[in-house]
Amino acid sequence: MPETALQVDYGSVLDSAVGAAHGLGRAEIKRSEARVKEAIARIERERKAGQHRYRDLPYDTAMVRHVRAIRRQYVGKIDNLVVLGIGGSALGNIALQTALNPAYHNLMPNSMRWGPRLFVMDNVDPVQFANLLSILGTGLRKTLFNVISKSGETAETAAQFLIVRDLLMRRFGRKALAKHLLVTTDPEGGTMRDLVEAEGFASLPVPSGVGGRFSVLSAVGLFSAAMCGINIGKLLAGAAAMEERIHSRVVRKNPAAMLALLLHAFYVRGKRSHVMMPYSYQLKDLADWYRQLWAESLGKGVDLDGQPAMVGPTPIKALGVTDQHSQVQLYREGPNDKVFMFLEVEKHAKDVRIPRVAGTPEALRYLQGKSMGTLLTAEKHATERALVASQRPCLTIRFPSVREETVGQFIMLWEATTSIMGCLLNVNAYDQPAVQLGKEFTFALMGREGYEERAKELQRRGRSAGNCTV
Ligand code: PA5
Repeated sequence: MPETALQVDYGSVLDSAVGAAHGLGRAEIKRSEARVKEAIARIERERKAGQHRYRDLPYDTAMVRHVRAIRRQYVGKIDNLVVLGIGGSALGNIALQTALNPAYHNLMPNSMRWGPRLFVMDNVDPVQFANLLSILGTGLRKTLFNVISKSGETAETAAQFLIVRDLLMRRFGRKALAKHLLVTTDPEGGTMRDLVEAEGFASLPVPSGVGGRFSVLSAVGLFSAAMCGINIGKLLAGAAAMEERIHSRVVRKNPAAMLALLLHAFYVRGKRSHVMMPYSYQLKDLADWYRQLWAESLGKGVDLDGQPAMVGPTPIKALGVTDQHSQVQLYREGPNDKVFMFLEVEKHAKDVRIPRVAGTPEALRYLQGKSMGTLLTAEKHATERALVASQRPCLTIRFPSVREETVGQFIMLWEATTSIMGCLLNVNAYDQPAVQLGKEFTFALMGREGYEERAKELQRRGRSAGNCTV
């Protein structure tokens, strides 16, 4: 395995580590392999029939050329890049930025930054949005808004877009719109695509067959990353390296297969909360990205045979060491219904030494001469050991370092794990039907034409809920 390869270490989920009541035996793992192999074979068959298209993204050189060509149009010309999007049209962008650019990127002076400041607006909170607009202020002239919406219909993104378009028109006139707006949307149709055609905005495609939460390695995530100095070639090379590994039907050689096997086996045993705990600030937003991927893909009410299912693990994010001081009490002594997945970094990009200085109190001297990185890693090991001592199964995904190649691997690893887990739970990992009703009720509440029946339904439901305010 190359030095840059991610490793999945699952020694601490075994019964030898956490006991037979809460751990998995090697024989049990072996027995589960057949189903996982079947899932891998099925995915390979379905790929030939055009499904699981996210797996092809690392090899899409035309897409990369397109992203780079659009990037060249803006390099050196903008100070601010604002992404307007939500869910799969935002979480990957945020995760790449946190992982691969310095923390506090936006606070650095222009001369020190690799590209513009980046703001990803994935909410319609009026205070937050108004604050952003006032921060942009006179900087609006050198701001590009990347509107990302595959469907082109999402209410939150549409609201942001309408506000920004109006602001730009009032400040700079209609002709300037195209200079400030770049739209990433379905290449074939939809409201945003129609606007692109009508108004002549620059645009990038969301590849067909790639759903929002699987789209970070398409133009959706790549443009803002490339604009901010992230090497998207290396990111995709990392994803491709993982893609090679996850073909294997030898489960022990296939990290996605092994992760799906273990998490499914624990799910069946009632450990249905899957906690991802990065011990790296850089990786913290990848855990948010994982939360959406795992939750929206696997939480389903109906299985692939059309039978009621109500399945799905609950993904939880916790940050090491911060959440040791917030969650670990529950994790060690509360219900033993969770699996813990640590993200560990072998070599941090930077480290800070704790100085030896005269006058350090006796009780703090053990810290002197050590580094923060050493402390962080020690705390990871200590927390894992403490959880294992309470019979809580733990596994570790180990990054040799956090860089484009390893982040690309991580993304492909989890996308593929999600596909395999979908097969094991017998659900469609690519739809999200339950999100629809809330969207339709929102349309009804906002007075959208065609949703009058939903508005009446809301009134009926409101009456039956009763008024029980305290
Ligand atoms: O994963 C998904 O499909 C969703 O989270 C979408 O990304 C999200 O709802 C935004 O959709 P759209 O890109 O169509 O605006």
